[in-house]
Parts: sequence; C-alpha cells; structure tokens
Amino acid sequence: MKIALIGYGKMGKTIHELAEQHGDGVVFIIDRNSSDQLNHMNRENVDVAIEFTNPESAFENLKYCVVNQIPVISGTTGWLHRYDELVRICHKNDGTFMYASNFSIGVNIFFEVNKFLAEKMSGYQEYRVSMEEIHHTEKLDAPSGTAITLAEGIVEKNSRFESVKEIDIHSKRIGKTPGTHTIEYHSPIDSIEIKHTAHSRRGFAKGAYEAAVWIKNKKGVFSIQDMLFGDQ
Ligand SMILES: NC(=O)c1ccc[n+]([C@@H]2O[C@H](COP(=O)([O-])OP(=O)(O)OC[C@H]3O[C@@H](n4cnc5c(N)ncnc54)[C@H](O)[C@@H]3O)[C@@H](O)[C@H]2O)c1
Repeated sequence: MKIALIGYGKMGKTIHELAEQHGDGVVFIIDRNSSDQLNHMNRENVDVAIEFTNPESAFENLKYCVVNQIPVISGTTGWLHRYDELVRICHKNDGTFMYASNFSIGVNIFFEVNKFLAEKMSGYQEYRVSMEEIHHTEKLDAPSGTAITLAEGIVEKNSRFESVKEIDIHSKRIGKTPGTHTIEYHSPIDSIEIKHTAHSRRGFAKGAYEAAVWIKNKKGVFSIQDMLFGDQ
C-alpha cells in the first residue's frame, strides 16, 4: 500500500512506524515546511493519505485529496465547522473520506457505552452530568474532539438535552497525557462514572492505519463506526 502522511508530528511519526512494520511504502511525508509537496500527490502515486495536522490546515489538505480522488482519512480535530462543506465537495468529486475524532478502538466502544448510559439516565433529573477531558499541554483545541463526540452521544440519547453546549466539559492540559475522558452522573445519593484512559498514542495510530486499509478501495464518506460496527 502506497501511503502519504500529511502531517509528520507525534501521530504522523507513530503511524509511519506502524506502516513500516506492515511493509507498506510511505511515498510522501508532508509537514509544515514541505506543504507544497501536496500538489505532487495523485491517485496513481498514492493509494491512501493519512492526515494528522492542525485545525488551520486540515480542511485544505483534505479538500485537495477528495478533489483529486485520493482516499483520505483524517484525525485532525478542531476544524469540524467545515465538515459539511467537505462532505459536499467529496460527493461532488466522487472522492473518499473518513474522519474520526478518535481512532482508538477502545474509545469507539466507550462511545457506545456512553450512549447506552445516556439513554438509561434519561428519566432521572436528579443526576447532573459533567465531563472531564485531560490531554498533553501541546494540544491546540479544547474541548477535545473526543469530548465533543461524547457530548453529542449524550444529547442524541438523553432527552433532557438539546445541545452539546448544555453539557459541562472541563478541559485540563497536563504533562504528556495522551487522552483521558471521564463522564460523571452525580446525584446527592450516588454517582456513576465511566472513564477511558489512553496509555499511549499507539491505539490511535493502529485504528488510523486499519481505517486506511479499509477505505482505500471505497468511494464516499465514512465514519469509523461504519468500519467497526458496520452500521451506516
Ligand atoms: N483522531 C484521533 O484519534 C487523534 C489522536 C491524536 C491526535 N489527534 C489530533 O490530530 C492532530 C495532530 O496531532 P499530533 O499529536 O500529531 O500533533 P503534532 O503537533 O505533533 O503534529 C502536527 C504536525 O502537522 C504539521 N503541519 C502543520 N501544518 C501543516 C500543513 N499545512 N501541511 C502539512 N503538515 C502540517 C506540523 O508541522 C506538525 O508536525 C491534532 O489535531 C490532534 O488533536 C487525533
């Protein structure tokens, strides 16, 4: 598989290691100082692009890929106000695209647990919901994309909420923390807490790599749930 890595920071480098272990060729490594290389990519010289950059550059990188029919997966967070626009461009150009706020398999199972709990708690007004997310100090966006997905899951399943803005999200930036998310339902009588702790970046990289393999011969816009649970 010919892989292009767009963004060669912590995630890009971890995915590179994994791709090499699988014997794949990394044919482009595009970082901030070599962003002009993007224009050299096409669907003949790249099978799939993996994009982990920053909120400012993600949209243009992804647009280039979908317009040029290079299947692309992105894990960059903080640019989602333009997600619908990208989906339209992707469909119009017969492109291929997957975004996930979190590529870890464990977190995606945690998303399902979160929705289950949100639905069960729907009728119990006495429980106050709050969320805490902790990440490393270099993270640019807050709250995290994962926290936003969790809040969306609560709003979808718990009839007490109409908007993610109603959910209290506390963001903390501590040391090198890869990513910890806790949801608490608190009442004067008791509390229920669910928590996911990433121990390293490898879980995100593994999921992103598997998504790249899964998407490379498909057309359209996909979510990681399509890949993991097949429930599109
Ligand atoms: N979805 C997930 O599972 C997941 C997991 C971890 C991180 N993330 C997100 O992925 C993104 C990257 O995370 P990271 O930890 O690798 O960050 P990082 O800061 O270590 O790396 C980002 C890299 O992008 C490069 N870059 C900046 N502008 C660019 C451009 N125009 N073209 C190409 N490269 C450019 C930077 O030079 C840097 O090397 C962040 O938005 C983070 O929140 C998502």
